[in-house]
Amino acid sequence: MTFDEIIDFRASNRKFDPEVPVPVEVIEKALKHATLAPNSSNMQLWEFHWTKSPEAKAKMVEACLSQMAARSAQEMVVFVTRRDLWRKRRQWHLNWIDKDAERIGDPNARSIKLRRKYYGSLMPVFYFNDGFGLMGIFRRVTTFFVGLQRPIVRGEGHAGQRISVHKSCALAAENFMLSCAAQGFHTCPMEGFDAKMVKKQLKLPRGAEVNMVIAVGKGTKEGFWGPRRRVADDEVIFRH
Ligand SMILES: Cc1cc2nc3c(=O)[nH]c(=O)nc-3n(C[C@H](O)[C@H](O)[C@H](O)COP(=O)(O)O)c2cc1C
Repeated sequence: MTFDEIIDFRASNRKFDPEVPVPVEVIEKALKHATLAPNSSNMQLWEFHWTKSPEAKAKMVEACLSQMAARSAQEMVVFVTRRDLWRKRRQWHLNWIDKDAERIGDPNARSIKLRRKYYGSLMPVFYFNDGFGLMGIFRRVTTFFVGLQRPIVRGEGHAGQRISVHKSCALAAENFMLSCAAQGFHTCPMEGFDAKMVKKQLKLPRGAEVNMVIAVGKGTKEGFWGPRRRVADDEVIFRH
């Protein structure tokens, strides 16, 4: 398929063909494509949970309010944000920086120093939180004053951080759906689910959040709810 054809093919389907299973390799490949999505600072604060066993899938259908797309799905993957893993990912970057410094034989190379500063010093400022929200206030106030002098990424509290990880996770979800489409399978992204139930089923910790659940299968004609309508381009596309 050409890129145009893939974009066209990826339309939400809510009634998948029960006779057409999705080969394991299709999901494996789509998951790999999901991991290659662009994401904030390459921190990869996401997880993809494939409910593979019939028991796990049945529970997920229930958590997705037994909606048609879930009930008829051949496979389901849950996209999860993991803001709480920032320390682990930061360390992963720092380890790579050490290896790269060794490889090029210069621990003081400019690129090494810049990366070490970015992940060593800046990431904690961005992701660290205390229990009272004081760090968020500190970030907002300091960036407000710096912002009077020059452009700066405005500091945020919990809400801003949550938006950030959900943005990246949704891009991974889109990669996943386009990959399924390119391999001839339809999807339906869902936010109609009981997040508490999903988290319990997947044994996710408090810091994890469910971004969306994606149902996969071979779409049927009835599964497409009419033509794909969009508002006029001039309502959403602006050229400045
Ligand atoms: C974040 C998100 C949540 C969605 N939740 C549901 C859902 O719970 N159930 C459903 O049937 N469709 C759901 N959809 C699918 C949208 O209704 C669909 O993408 C939209 O109508 C545009 O149609 P298209 O995907 O065919 O282009 C969701 C889509 C997104 C991106």
